[in-house]
Amino acid sequence: MIDLERDPCYVAALVTRRVGRAYVNRKDLSFDTRLLHSEGHDKPLNSHSIPIFQSSTFYFDSPEKGADLFSGASQGHIYTRLGNPTTEALEGVMASIEEADGAVAFSSGMAAITASILPFVGSGDHVISGDTLYGPSIHLIKDVFGRFGVKSSFVDTSDLGAVRSAFRKETRLVFFETPANPTCRITDIAAVSEIAAKNKAMVVVDNTFSTPALQRPLSLGAQVSVYSATKYLNGHGDIVGGMAAAGRECIEKIRTFRKDTGAILSPFESFLFLRGLKTLGMRMRKHHENAVAAADFLKGHPKVEKVHFPGHEDFPNHAVARKQMKAWPSCFSFELRGGLDSGRRLLSSTRICTLAVSLGTLDTLIQHPASMTHAGVPREMRMAQGLTDGLVRISVGCEDAADIISDLRQALDKA
Ligand SMILES: Cc1ncc(COP(=O)(O)O)c(C=O)c1O
Repeated sequence: MIDLERDPCYVAALVTRRVGRAYVNRKDLSFDTRLLHSEGHDKPLNSHSIPIFQSSTFYFDSPEKGADLFSGASQGHIYTRLGNPTTEALEGVMASIEEADGAVAFSSGMAAITASILPFVGSGDHVISGDTLYGPSIHLIKDVFGRFGVKSSFVDTSDLGAVRSAFRKETRLVFFETPANPTCRITDIAAVSEIAAKNKAMVVVDNTFSTPALQRPLSLGAQVSVYSATKYLNGHGDIVGGMAAAGRECIEKIRTFRKDTGAILSPFESFLFLRGLKTLGMRMRKHHENAVAAADFLKGHPKVEKVHFPGHEDFPNHAVARKQMKAWPSCFSFELRGGLDSGRRLLSSTRICTLAVSLGTLDTLIQHPASMTHAGVPREMRMAQGLTDGLVRISVGCEDAADIISDLRQALDKA
């Protein structure tokens, strides 16, 4: 039996948590202020920004002090896989903006998703998952976890009746994205959390598309809010990273899983992530503004059949999105009347919108989900999600909105 109090990971966790808690409690500070004032560490040599502690290990002043760190009698750093000051500063900011007890940084979004599900399920347990998900998340839950005896059902979580009937007595966890990648399907977080609580199951929300700037799943009843930080959280497209935020009990299990599987974010990437995170509030406001302009333009264009944008009043579950989100997501999709061939012509013709996967970067990215991000999703599952061959996904960036629109206009002329 593990003695948690003597576990070096737990000791490192205590340090992070204590730092986090001091700032999380500042509920009087607004979101933008917290982004800039929640790092939590005293910075060495009066440094204004948190340095990159590019060190795998930390020396002990004496054998006794080393033993005290391991036993938990004192707090400090031991080894970077357990915790690193640069990474902890980042985690302090993230915990603060999520109003969570703690946050844990990962080397990718997929590592964060794995660590937000696996510690809570075992062989014979059942997971209910949204059926509109980033392709590798479907593969992870269905095939990878499935090989270890974890059963799963994929349902439309925007349909509360479907969620209710998917529960079995072995259901332990519900996982979904909202808005979901790439059709922006909206799930009511509070309603699903209530159904899950009645069934003694937990809820994990992939909040990548929204970030805490637009939506905070924990405040709506979910237990874990998980991210591909590669996207909006970092915002600059220069790292691959992940993040999970949760209440005390869950975050400790996630942290221990990270220690055991070794998927911590490196100090250098933590520094870049933290630098990007500081501007999250202002970036998300500009993303929102530009997304509304681009979505309205696309909706009125004769070559566009349909725009999947939650900000439009005729979008399914628009009222739920309005209730749980502060602003609209800037990554959404649209369908061209000319189908796949028209989509190919459009993607070959843009000059400002870059043809690339990923999303949430400062600049606008455009891609074709059926042959790219969601190529691994079985065709019948894609079709059921509305993920047709002619669907194009756009992540609207922070350029001047008029430039994005004129680029889309000239590309649509050729589509
Ligand atoms: C919604 C969503 N979740 C998770 C991931 C996986 O994140 P990462 O690529 O950082 O592992 C992605 C990647 O595109 C995503 O779009």
